[in-house]
Amino acid sequence: MKIAVASDHAGFDYKIKLTEYIKEQGHQILDFGTYSTDSVDYPDFAFPAAEAVASMVADYGMLICGTGIGMSMVANKVQGIRAALCTTPYMAEMARQHNNANVICFGARTTELENAKEMLKIFLEEDFLGDRHMIRVEKIHNLSGN
Ligand code: RB5
Repeated sequence: MKIAVASDHAGFDYKIKLTEYIKEQGHQILDFGTYSTDSVDYPDFAFPAAEAVASMVADYGMLICGTGIGMSMVANKVQGIRAALCTTPYMAEMARQHNNANVICFGARTTELENAKEMLKIFLEEDFLGDRHMIRVEKIHNLSGN
């Protein structure tokens, strides 16, 4: 699969390590920056990466900032994006099974790297369960704005 990734300066080192992990799992990376630890504004990187997922250039997205909060706020502004800020493997599993999330967000300053690897593996392997969850996800997209 193709995974669109992006981070700000706070998530840069973490993104590089998780990018290597994603490649080891046999997936391709589309890296939308940032490309150093110089201070930047996270919306400038989250938005194009989320658009790549929404337009199906990428299958999934992974976005990282200090807490993951800003990245998830920006990604969820993009039509068709369901971004989930995850902190536990159970959240990553539910994000796919119940919410059909297509973007996962991490906080580099709040979540251990090994925990994020475990969540990523689950996120990329689990399927959406559909059925009653489909009705709920459709209701999200019927709300104004997304
Ligand atoms: C940068 O200091 C920090 O504000 C940013 O990485 C992120 O945590 C915002 O949500």
